[in-house]
Amino acid sequence: MADSNSLSRRQIVLGTLPTVGAAAGVFSGMASSTLFAADAQAVYNPIKALLKESFTNGAYTLPKLPYAYDALEPHIDAETMKLHHDKHHQGYVDGLNKTLKAMADMRAAGGEVNTALLTGLQEDLTFNGSGHLLHSTFWATMSAKGGGQASGQVGEAITKQFGSFAAFQLQFSKAAASVKGSGWAILAYEPVGDKLMILQVKQHDLQTVFLAVPLLPLDVWEHAYYLKYKNMRADYIKAWWNVAHWPAVDAAFQAARKAAGHP
Ligand SMILES: [Fe+2]
Repeated sequence: MADSNSLSRRQIVLGTLPTVGAAAGVFSGMASSTLFAADAQAVYNPIKALLKESFTNGAYTLPKLPYAYDALEPHIDAETMKLHHDKHHQGYVDGLNKTLKAMADMRAAGGEVNTALLTGLQEDLTFNGSGHLLHSTFWATMSAKGGGQASGQVGEAITKQFGSFAAFQLQFSKAAASVKGSGWAILAYEPVGDKLMILQVKQHDLQTVFLAVPLLPLDVWEHAYYLKYKNMRADYIKAWWNVAHWPAVDAAFQAARKAAGHP
């Protein structure tokens, strides 16, 4: 089963720290209850709580799942959820904290910067940082009450920008199915153009757009589906649509638009 938790260095250097920062900033900036209508705020509270749990007491931390391991059965099995959350996500949290400490240690040591060491740490920073925050968002945007078509303002925006929900769903599913190796399909909000975008992210941090805020990420690493679906990634994607929680996505969309100053 492919998984690069064990990889301490990757060969590709491109990273997305601004993306991670933008996502964290938008979510952490959602404290004001005046940003949303009351119903959207109520839906968004669990997302805020989960993301807040992702950084506590000065360190990145593994948030609790907002539901039981078996809550998303039969679409996503309990054993996969437990391993995915407890082991894989924990690995990214540990890797991120370890990388930041190694960078601090390097600075404290003074002297010449070891370029090879620094390059490896930069790769570890964006890989683990994006891995941690994407997984936190992934858990928060799934629900046993999920499925159906996009609702609310995000539903309207999807219809307007993609032509129809069916056209969006087809493109998103194709993007997820065709990731080469490990990666994600992500419905993201780009605040400068006030646009929704489908990203096909490689690993956790490659092939994305700076400032784009992940609204609905779908993990297509083998660790997300292989126990139940084996090599049938398309079947996993089809099942995942049944747990995609559109009210949560809509609340995150409204939050991101408000934070970007769009009425
Ligand atoms: Fe994952």
